Amino acid sequence: MEQVFHRFAGGVGRAKPCRDMSAASYPALRLRRTRAAAWSRALVAETVLTPADLIWPLFVTEGKGVEEPIATLPGVSRWSVDRLAERAREARDLGIPCLALFPNTPPALRTDDAREALNPDNLICRAVRALKQAAPELGVLTDVALDPYTAHGHDGIVDTSGYVLNDVTSAILADQALVQAEAGADIIAPSDMMDGRVGAIRSALEQAGHVNVQIMAYAAKYASAFYGPFRDAVGSRGLLKGDKKSYQMDPANGEEALREVALDLAEGADTVMVKPGLPYLDIIRRVKERFEVPVFAYQVSGEYAMIEAAAAAGAGDRDALVLETLMAFKRAGCAGVLSYHAAYAARLLARR
Ligand code: PBG
Repeated sequence: MEQVFHRFAGGVGRAKPCRDMSAASYPALRLRRTRAAAWSRALVAETVLTPADLIWPLFVTEGKGVEEPIATLPGVSRWSVDRLAERAREARDLGIPCLALFPNTPPALRTDDAREALNPDNLICRAVRALKQAAPELGVLTDVALDPYTAHGHDGIVDTSGYVLNDVTSAILADQALVQAEAGADIIAPSDMMDGRVGAIRSALEQAGHVNVQIMAYAAKYASAFYGPFRDAVGSRGLLKGDKKSYQMDPANGEEALREVALDLAEGADTVMVKPGLPYLDIIRRVKERFEVPVFAYQVSGEYAMIEAAAAAGAGDRDALVLETLMAFKRAGCAGVLSYHAAYAARLLARR
């Protein structure tokens, strides 16, 4: 009974642990009985992982017919807009419901004021329109933050001392979100960690009539060492001066993550994200138990790179590592996971 309850509650909820175990003890109770055969393990599995749990992040670059491999993310490439359409059809055929897009803005278009972020014809907007044409049934998530557009690689506007200004940035982010929504983005995902930006974006969307555009807040995003390969992919690593600790969260903090989530939900976020993924499973679980809203995890670039490095070194089996880590997010309480292994994992799942 307990198992069934867990299953329908998505692995998280108010099940009272041990309720039906109190009577028996060894040898009447042998927990290995239900583990002995594959059919039985399948029956008692508390958590399921399907391609519908996955969001596939993709990097976009200028040009035609382009695929640019990313050295620090082996197996991941930047795609030109035309090639992106192929990835969209691939995702659709694999049962992946949503794509996330990140641009590698040409260096000449990166400025201190990040004005390219507001260009309705920028790389990301063209990519969104192309995806909506190629596979209209797929959801498209766009990242709201200024780091792919600034000359200094920070997520916002900096003052003369290098401090990232909150309110000035937040106003630009609201405009950036509008530009992306106009292009057809279904989910706006602010990843910048400015205070108040979810509220600013929500009211901008409402005023413009985009009442069904979702906001997936990067609510608890940590100042992490796991973002390196991503910064290579979007071309901001070499530009970045200093670190992002004055806006992204301190890995030491958990309570603060709950405050961030509460704030973003109050401001109008539909769903929330915790990032990075595996090192923060405790945060995912706490958020899920406290708020009972859809929680997503971003298994970030450094996590992907670690799995690939382990597999390449013969230290672990890639397929097993990929599926185990993704399942861990589901068990922790996630509704879904952003992962660079999304298509790879979906193919594995289709084979089982
Ligand atoms: C930028 C952004 C980052 C990631 C997603 N959006 C990097 C950063 O904050 O420096 C990281 C994703 C990854 O590492 O895969 N706002």
